[in-house]
Amino acid sequence: MAPRGGTLRPVTTTPLTIFDTTMRDGEQAPGFSMTPAAKARLATQLDCLGVDVIEAGFPKASVGDFEAVRGIAARVRRPIIAALARALEDDIDCAWEALRGAARPRLHVFLATSDIHLEYKLRVDRAACRQMAAAAVAHARRYCPDVEFSAEDATRSDPAFLAEVAEAVIEAGASTVNLPDTVGYALPEDIGAMFAAVRARVGDGAVLSAHCHDDLGLAVSNSLAAIQAGARQVECTINGIGERAGNAALEEIVMALCVRPDRLPYRVGIRTEHLFETSRLLSAIVAVPVPPNKAIVGDNAFAHEAGVHQDGMLKHRLTYEIMEPATVGAPGTRLVIGKHSGIRGVDARCRALGHHLRPDDLTRLYARLIPLADQIKELDDTRLAALIAETRGVGAEAR
Ligand code: KIV
Ligand code: ZN
Repeated sequence: MAPRGGTLRPVTTTPLTIFDTTMRDGEQAPGFSMTPAAKARLATQLDCLGVDVIEAGFPKASVGDFEAVRGIAARVRRPIIAALARALEDDIDCAWEALRGAARPRLHVFLATSDIHLEYKLRVDRAACRQMAAAAVAHARRYCPDVEFSAEDATRSDPAFLAEVAEAVIEAGASTVNLPDTVGYALPEDIGAMFAAVRARVGDGAVLSAHCHDDLGLAVSNSLAAIQAGARQVECTINGIGERAGNAALEEIVMALCVRPDRLPYRVGIRTEHLFETSRLLSAIVAVPVPPNKAIVGDNAFAHEAGVHQDGMLKHRLTYEIMEPATVGAPGTRLVIGKHSGIRGVDARCRALGHHLRPDDLTRLYARLIPLADQIKELDDTRLAALIAETRGVGAEAR
């Protein structure tokens, strides 16, 4: 383990593709839909953030999605622009129509491979499923040299059948095979075994990709397990938005790679200093606030209230922070004045506001502040300044 806040760099690193699906899977979450104009704005920001692939939408789903994909394909030229389609010729034709103006288009075709989906949803047997998947990829390849195939519900699919489908779609022309944990069911060791098994079958025939949902709160852990087992593309969303409990959060995966290169020797092209602004832009677009305790980009990610923590932070940042706020573009460390604060933290906050208190004034201020904080949770700077003035007044009278 890196002894100090992730400063060790491995000698060699393996490149990873960051595939952002905020505007496709992320948008599928109830209450998170975006207009074509909002998607265009977000796509520009994702380009600036440095993502490798932007999945701009599912053109067959709606006219709005079609227009959003078409607009982004025309304007955002550096990253690959992907569009999703079911394994149906009509869907693929529609996705290509939206995508054809892109500098680097990718058709993303999906079909479920688990027996649960085959029996209850698709009502086809395994042989038909394999044939449909290969035929859809072959159809997509007639338009586009870059085709990704996703085996929906891969983690609940029979491993041997999954590997068979992977082989068939690669044979048909897929250059990326995505193995999603569609329902967020897998544990990290399951993911590791699944990627290792498919890799053993297909070798380097295609890039393997991870796409994990967060139903058990394991989406990021599972994505990292997939990377360690050979995935070279990871699909994720800003703020972890997505179907049901969401997808793996892009900012969490990227910062895990940045903070722990000793265990995760992979490199990505993300400009981490843009993570915070990207998170806030998405939050403004969908009008859903970022939870305060959200890793990396939440308001409390770099806030310290407990006295012991504030004391540690005042002595050395590495005591309680594993990354610097500036690395992710966050405003900065905050020492919050609340009922858990210690006297050193209160003194530091007072000094930051320009008040250098005498020791007896500081002791009096602290004695009055804690009961007040007990009632109002957090003392903002205005309340603190008022309390300082009152405390100093009382002190002056007594002297
Ligand atoms: O979760 C999933 O299986 C998906 C696929 C369509 C890639 O979102
Ligand atoms: Zn998904």
